[in-house]
Amino acid sequence: MESTRKQLINILEKQKEHISGQELSDQLNISRTAIWKHMNELKKDGYQIEAVQRKGYKIISYPDKISENTLQWGLETSWIGKELHHYDQVESTQAIAHRMAKQGKPHGTVIVADEQVKGKGRMSRPWHSPKGKGIWMSLLLRPELAPIQAPQLTLLAATVLAELISHYSELDPKIKWPNDILVNHKKISGILTEMQAEQDQIQYVVLGIGINVNQEEDEIPEEIRHKASSLKIESNKTWEVQTVIQHILRLFEQTYDQYLDSGFEHVKSIWEHYGYRIGEEVKISTMKRSWKAFLVGIEPDGALLARDDSGNEEKLYSAEIHWGEGGYHA
Ligand code: BTN
Repeated sequence: MESTRKQLINILEKQKEHISGQELSDQLNISRTAIWKHMNELKKDGYQIEAVQRKGYKIISYPDKISENTLQWGLETSWIGKELHHYDQVESTQAIAHRMAKQGKPHGTVIVADEQVKGKGRMSRPWHSPKGKGIWMSLLLRPELAPIQAPQLTLLAATVLAELISHYSELDPKIKWPNDILVNHKKISGILTEMQAEQDQIQYVVLGIGINVNQEEDEIPEEIRHKASSLKIESNKTWEVQTVIQHILRLFEQTYDQYLDSGFEHVKSIWEHYGYRIGEEVKISTMKRSWKAFLVGIEPDGALLARDDSGNEEKLYSAEIHWGEGGYHA
């Protein structure tokens, strides 16, 4: 059921001219005082609304600052983000999501922050999350899956990000195994999945998504500038963070539901379509040996499948892969 606020915005958005309080109250079946109260709430959330006597109301400009309300109003999902928390500044959205999971918050809860001061990357690396420049978001999921299937959720999330970038720009995103999103060989996004599980059942998963959206080149820390970038740097345009979050959530929900209905095959084929260096030869080294291999694709347990010159296939979990050209090597 659409909220009154959402319906009100829908009407105002479609309106080229002012619309009277009476007409709004008729259409929404609420009093004119209630309309006036909703207008005040919209203003608090950054909508600029002109109210002209005898003519009525008109939206002049939209919020440039995101909030729980503005994120939820345009969200076309059925379960994800129904509970959504937005913060100006946090240490890490992951920590908040874990806390909320323990408090019993529902499947699909979303935590978004404008800034993280202790953003967390994979393998305990820091994740630079400057104010208003990117998407720093954690999703709380309670999937009815075995713990061994958890890596599939990370791979699924990576396909959602690649699809999104590819649909909304001319960029050619790649997924570098297991789940870094690269554009022009540089990392623009990373995913951190953390899980709480019992022996054969996941209790919950916190899926953290970090995307460098609107940083300029000099806003990327110097020490990683050779291998990290942002959507803006690569596409030469500013991206609207709020809309991107809404698209991610919608596409994530759709892909997740499809995955639960019909399994991992579809995710696997999208992942392999975007997979960095899939179908190419790379050098691989482990503690024991070093060899050249053809990257075949991914396995249902999240491993990378590589084939050597003699046709032997090997599942890789943590080998060092020399990705080759382009400078990206992490
Ligand atoms: C990686 O190392 O590639 C994963 C980076 C994940 C960063 C995101 S930003 C939102 C969430 N909160 C965190 O502290 N980390 C994840």
